[in-house]
Amino acid sequence: MPLFDYSRPALVDLCAGGGSVWCNLVPYFEHVIANDIIRDLIGAQQALMDGDAIACETRALCVAKEDKAGYHRLRDNYNATPSAAKYFALTLCCNNNMARFNASFRFNQTFGRRTWNSSTTEKVSRYTAHIRPYRSRVQFLPFDFARVAIPDNSMVYVDPPYSNTEAGYNAYWRKDDDRRLFEHLLRLAERGHAIAVSGVLRHNGKECPLLNLLINAGLQTHLLHSDYSAVSKVGPKESQEVLLTNYDPLEMMPTEVRQQPIEVVPA
Ligand SMILES: C[S@@+](CC[C@H](N)C(=O)[O-])C[C@H]1O[C@@H](n2cnc3c(N)ncnc32)[C@H](O)[C@@H]1O
Repeated sequence: MPLFDYSRPALVDLCAGGGSVWCNLVPYFEHVIANDIIRDLIGAQQALMDGDAIACETRALCVAKEDKAGYHRLRDNYNATPSAAKYFALTLCCNNNMARFNASFRFNQTFGRRTWNSSTTEKVSRYTAHIRPYRSRVQFLPFDFARVAIPDNSMVYVDPPYSNTEAGYNAYWRKDDDRRLFEHLLRLAERGHAIAVSGVLRHNGKECPLLNLLINAGLQTHLLHSDYSAVSKVGPKESQEVLLTNYDPLEMMPTEVRQQPIEVVPA
């Protein structure tokens, strides 16, 4: 949070995923655009902003912890006739709560022997209580990053799939997408927007083409220290997470950016 440019009126989160970044930054911007190519992921966030109907529907759709066959029926049903509530239910019941799609955008994550529980109720109510006061500020979009219209003078944040890691969303990140995003970000920087990009510089010896291109183009590198042991079954690997910016963050940090970030369900 201390690394964003809070002098801009609008925040655009181009690959918003589960929304942990935009929902923690929304108090500090007049306007927020939360975009992700997964339509129902964005649809679920919009519905949680709008009211409680999605939570009731999702809870009813979740299968019991032992019901693997029921999970497969729900997954087939979602892939035939998708909806935000079915998507949300699948993420709550699937392996590690990690949504995963194949290159044709069919949900293919395996059963996780999990379901809606009392902690889900508590998290949903904390999350909705946090975001709803900002309803008029937030616009949700389900587009490819290049199709998002960016308001003048924006803080544009991108946390794209990390093409040098094994994340589930890499399946629909195409071969030329690192370069396509790089060229898009250069055009946005030329138009005067502040740009911040997250990524993993090196992961088990593999470099990230997007980050290398951006560093060579002159963006500043800020090293981040994160611990994924709570969500990863795989042991610690050699990796370095970074945030790249085309501005100097130290001059931008408002003193009120000290609040404890709230956790959200992973993308
Ligand atoms: C690293 S995750 C983002 C995680 C997010 N920062 C969060 O807090 O949950 C990358 C996201 O990029 C999205 N994505 C992949 N290809 C995209 C594209 N072409 N345009 C927009 N979003 C895309 C994926 O669906 C995924 O949610």
